[in-house]
Amino acid sequence: MRILHTSFECYPLAKVGGLGDVVGSLPKYLNGLGCETYVIIPFYDTEKINQLECETIYSGSLNLGTNTFDFSIKKEKSNVFGFQVFFVDINKLLFRPGIYEYPDDTERFISFQLAVMDWIVSSETKPDIIHCHDHHTGLIPFFVSQVEKYQSICEIPTILTIHNAQYQGEFSYDRLRYIPPFNFNNVGLLDWYESINPLAAAIKCAWSVTTVSPSYMVELQEKANGLEGLLSHENKKCTGILNGIDHDTWNPETDPMIIENYTDDNLVSERKPNKEWLCKEFNLNPEKPLFAFIGRLVYEKGADILPDAIYQTLVNTDDISILILGSGNKEVERRLQELKELFSGNYNTYIGYDEKLSHIIYAGADFLLMPSRVEPCGLNQMYALRYGLIPIVRSIGGLKDTVVDIGDGGFGICHKHADVHDICYSINRGIELYKDQESYSELQKRIVKIDNSWNNSAKQYIKLYKSLKQ
Ligand code: ADP
Ligand code: GLC
Repeated sequence: MRILHTSFECYPLAKVGGLGDVVGSLPKYLNGLGCETYVIIPFYDTEKINQLECETIYSGSLNLGTNTFDFSIKKEKSNVFGFQVFFVDINKLLFRPGIYEYPDDTERFISFQLAVMDWIVSSETKPDIIHCHDHHTGLIPFFVSQVEKYQSICEIPTILTIHNAQYQGEFSYDRLRYIPPFNFNNVGLLDWYESINPLAAAIKCAWSVTTVSPSYMVELQEKANGLEGLLSHENKKCTGILNGIDHDTWNPETDPMIIENYTDDNLVSERKPNKEWLCKEFNLNPEKPLFAFIGRLVYEKGADILPDAIYQTLVNTDDISILILGSGNKEVERRLQELKELFSGNYNTYIGYDEKLSHIIYAGADFLLMPSRVEPCGLNQMYALRYGLIPIVRSIGGLKDTVVDIGDGGFGICHKHADVHDICYSINRGIELYKDQESYSELQKRIVKIDNSWNNSAKQYIKLYKSLKQ
């Protein structure tokens, strides 16, 4: 079965968050199970992409209103990623150093999707399934099913995976001119509250809709940034399939980014150099338990609560260290920076994105904080388990599906609310746990054995693909 994944991120070539990790790993696992999976993303102007050897396999031009853009489809030649990677190269729109947050993002998303459609229609070998990720590629199911010039492929099943329903990519009707001719009686398929809404359009038009954890699917029927009614209405074609992680990339035994590699057997002693490196780099004491946070500093991640929770914790105890890695909301960044002076020696932060540092934190910290308000799946807690640090999570979405509290016979620390009280209380539980080094180490040895790899979930995707081809 040939599966085409369309996305704006794919690790290691383009990553802002978990979407990149998923699109960079699920295809490899699908191929391991006998699929022929390929991925198409934009050709960005980044070092990683520019250094690849690519061949142009298709060229065309597309219209966005009255503007015409030339584009080409490039194929990466070495095939080192475990799946074939293709790129849409549109010099003026996509060939830029960043992935998102340009004023013309709507034009960028639509032009990418138009180019992908032209390429599929013109290809001799068509995909059996088109799997779209998030709103950036959410118009594809509409294009496939409604647009006249793509009629020849209208029988190909489309799937939408919702990684985050907060972002929907909506735009106003003055850009309807970007959409190629279709039966105007069906214009309602694009609409949600008088805007063109690519995520809503995909939920309506895709043959199947998945979210990245079962609990998030349930939560979305209640709260989906305005799409809850639509998701309830379409719930027969919706499934929650829990994300997996890539056990090759995220493997403390071989991870080239960490200071010292370790195995399940020697993790207690060999994680130490990683912690020592972090503590030296960030002026912290390696004797104290190290609590870390890695992530986008946004409301959904509960990042705005962190400064107060850190303050409350550290005015009451100096027996711990806290390290934050992230970037996002400027006010949160400023408040996190401010705390450095107040709690020097016990607290530090690195504002920015640093893949290598994130790996060292997973390998060296003792606890990982995830006080998310919304967490469709969350990968950090699974990386934490794999690397032997205890996740402290708010039980929501995918966190609820992957972390069981130690009080319930599990292996993590769970709290109910995303607020200062619950975070501080959970940190205190962590401190107590850490005091009993023997139990703490036993727990570490237990969590690294948990298999959150794609092995299981990739099979669920294959089952879904097969059901659509019947
Ligand atoms: P989301 O996609 O909502 O940001 P996930 O938990 O699914 O959350 O995935 C986040 C991914 O991004 C993980 O691989 C995490 O390690 C990584 N990440 C997030 N912020 C940073 C950062 N500042 N530096 C390095 N890696 C980061
Ligand atoms: C989104 C979600 C995150 C999820 C990731 C990968 O960014 O916020 O919870 O893990 O997508 O599916």
